[in-house]
Amino acid sequence: MKYLTITYGCQMNLHESEKAAGILEGMGYTPTDAAEDADLIIFNTCCIRDTAEKRAFGNIGALKPLKKQKKDLIIAVMGCMTEQKGYDEIFRKKYPYVDIVLGTNNLDKLESFIRIRREKGRKSYENVSCDNPINDDLPVTRTSYPNAWVNIMYGCNNFCSYCIVPYVRGRERSRNPEDIVSEVRALVESGYKEITLLGQNVNSYGHDLKDKSVDFAYILEEIAGIEGKFRIRFMTSHPKDLNAEVVDVIAKYPNICNNIHLPVQAGSNDVLRKMNRRYTRERYFSLIDMIRSKIPDCGITTDIMVGFPEETEEDFSQTLSLVEKVRFSNAFTFVYSMRKGTKAVEMQQVDFRTKQRRIKELIALQNRITKEISLTYIGGVYEILVEDVSAKHDGCVCGRTDSGRLVTFKGGADLIGQFVKVKITQSRSASLFGELTEQG
Ligand code: SAH
Ligand code: SF4
Ligand code: F3S
Repeated sequence: MKYLTITYGCQMNLHESEKAAGILEGMGYTPTDAAEDADLIIFNTCCIRDTAEKRAFGNIGALKPLKKQKKDLIIAVMGCMTEQKGYDEIFRKKYPYVDIVLGTNNLDKLESFIRIRREKGRKSYENVSCDNPINDDLPVTRTSYPNAWVNIMYGCNNFCSYCIVPYVRGRERSRNPEDIVSEVRALVESGYKEITLLGQNVNSYGHDLKDKSVDFAYILEEIAGIEGKFRIRFMTSHPKDLNAEVVDVIAKYPNICNNIHLPVQAGSNDVLRKMNRRYTRERYFSLIDMIRSKIPDCGITTDIMVGFPEETEEDFSQTLSLVEKVRFSNAFTFVYSMRKGTKAVEMQQVDFRTKQRRIKELIALQNRITKEISLTYIGGVYEILVEDVSAKHDGCVCGRTDSGRLVTFKGGADLIGQFVKVKITQSRSASLFGELTEQG
């Protein structure tokens, strides 16, 4: 029996698909890439923006003919989209050929729901689960070697006024530090070379634990002390919570990558306040200064949104000036999208054409900066962890610098998982190209 997972959304979801795969393989399923060959298809959904939801619904809808031909095919939908109120009804009414609907925090039910469907022909819908206690005892089939994702916490307490995550992922729950450290140790011992710690706001790690000495700086330091050659990355940091202690730990340990993803969202204090981000433009600048004074070559990336309700031309120009001043090594840019149940929906919306014009302008500015920063890498030799064969360039592999830049160079699949030295010879916007100078 074969299974196929189709994943949308962030790294959190990618990792949860690995957990679903672990459960399925424990039941005897093997993976396939082709929907026609699958006996079970799982959609792991995202609802951060309207486009993410539309894509998922579209692709679930496209399976209807296959399900007609293949009555025993089991279709399961899990992930953030399902956690929204009333979504079980949507599946019941509009997608009756979906067999299982699961929330973000009841993966432990997947096996029994599949068995119920196989043995009794019954469907199961259990979509609201995001505040359930953490269940860490799930098997994992990892798919991203040499990187391994490790959750340090779940949920979010911040309620940024545009964001649906706190509603679909529940309140912040931190894992016990001992569990995290033993998971990372086992991963490093079994050959993983990069550990990416996951949380919606990793800087509030530990706030909900009894032991008040446990915080993000503490867990980073514990993990950095694990023996073996490996790199540590983490995401996402919130500018209201990132502090000097954490930056000091990053600076102190060479195995913690000099790479911080620090979503700014907007450059205007009015917009930041309406977004409920709880920092100002000035505080953001001082954080950047602090990071760069302690870690001069730190790759700083960000998320930025345009067209947040009531955003004026002046507000938008403040975003541009912030981008110009900070010079992010890369930025993920988004057009604000209305999410049901969030505060920002009730505010005055910006029209579609204005949003489109602003996103184009922002992207053009960031592209220019990204290109300029890329040029500064040329001629330098960097340590790269080889991640994969290049999808675009024949006979090449790719990997990242410590600062998070993607580098492509000639080499074979045998290099995957090795640390190598690469001399950068060319750049093309965000991508760098180079030559292998030294092997692991
Ligand atoms: N926890 C992370 C981000 C999670 S969502 C943080 O706090 O930064 C990833 C990004 O999606 C956000 O940083 C934001 O830029 C974007 N995003 C979230 N909600 C959005 C919405 N309603 N419309 C457009 N972009 C959104
Ligand atoms: Fe969403 Fe804000 Fe939480 Fe990030 S911190 S997940 S943007 S509510
Ligand atoms: Fe999407 Fe959920 Fe991640 S809404 S971005 S998959 S936390």
